[in-house]
Amino acid sequence: MDVRYPSRVGLAREYTPLEKLDGASDALGAEVWLKRDDMTGVELSGNKVRKLEFLLADALASGADTVITCGGEQSNHCRATALAAAKLGLRSVVVLRTADPNAPPAPTGNILLDRLAGAEIVWISPEAWKARDEVLAREADRVRAGGGAPYVIPEGGSNALGAWGYVRAAQELAEQLRELPARETTVVYACGSGGTGAGLILGQKLGGLGAEDVRIAGVNVCDDRDYFVRVISDICRAFDADYGFESGVDERDIDILDGYVGRGYAKSRPEELALIRQVARRDGVILDPVYTGKAFFGMTRELENDPRRFGGRVVFLHTGGVFGALAADLGLSD
Ligand SMILES: Cc1ncc(COP(=O)(O)O)c(C=O)c1O
Repeated sequence: MDVRYPSRVGLAREYTPLEKLDGASDALGAEVWLKRDDMTGVELSGNKVRKLEFLLADALASGADTVITCGGEQSNHCRATALAAAKLGLRSVVVLRTADPNAPPAPTGNILLDRLAGAEIVWISPEAWKARDEVLAREADRVRAGGGAPYVIPEGGSNALGAWGYVRAAQELAEQLRELPARETTVVYACGSGGTGAGLILGQKLGGLGAEDVRIAGVNVCDDRDYFVRVISDICRAFDADYGFESGVDERDIDILDGYVGRGYAKSRPEELALIRQVARRDGVILDPVYTGKAFFGMTRELENDPRRFGGRVVFLHTGGVFGALAADLGLSD
């Protein structure tokens, strides 16, 4: 793929392993592989790091000294941003959504790491979250008023620049798939703010993943199919406009497997938690309840209904989230 990438700071361990999951493959009667983007690093782990490589290069180029971003209370993106900022000598402000900002949750999991990295945490209510871009703009004004130079990263790092992270990952995965016997393949990923999906789809459009025999399918962990078709289309349109491409991503390119949000964002059903425990015990792999556990559950259900649902091979993109899992109740009384 001959594409000129924007500037990037090296934060992610690239060429994460592509591993066959024997236990899951046997249980589901399908060829199940795991693309281990949970191994993009230790503290800087998961999918967000790949986006931050481009976003933080832009922050540094703009002369920023403080990065500001937002997410749910156990946001992996905010944790990765806080730690990456520390590594690059930047301050960070993370705006976190919680039920009652006057009684914020205990510092566990990602929150603990936000604190450890020295991030300033601003708690906001689900109501205030609806206008999160305005909250981010206000925080930027506050940093400016204090003499700082802010750089705002939107929710999940999901914008046109952040999408480059998964354009690059698509190229990496394509190289790895070329080492395997040719087979119709579906890449399944957890969709939370759309940036990973947009990047993968753009990467394929730009020639990174073989268009004929690789499908890309997201399992939405919140909202619904229409919402993510809109969000991903918007990111792809902005990408084309900003970088002079004509990828022309449209609704037909965006495959969202709706129906697995369950009880809602970051709320688990017993059967989802049971699968997380099963995967840990059978495959030795940790999934998190908010993203990868829900998406893996969706993929599993689809395969139980039809083992050929995803063609001859399914690659589950493990996007990380282990620190969130450590703060969650995984129903371990069994
Ligand atoms: C572990 C994990 N997986 C998947 C996602 C979803 O990725 P995206 O926000 O790019 O849709 C996120 C973040 O939202 C995440 O933290």
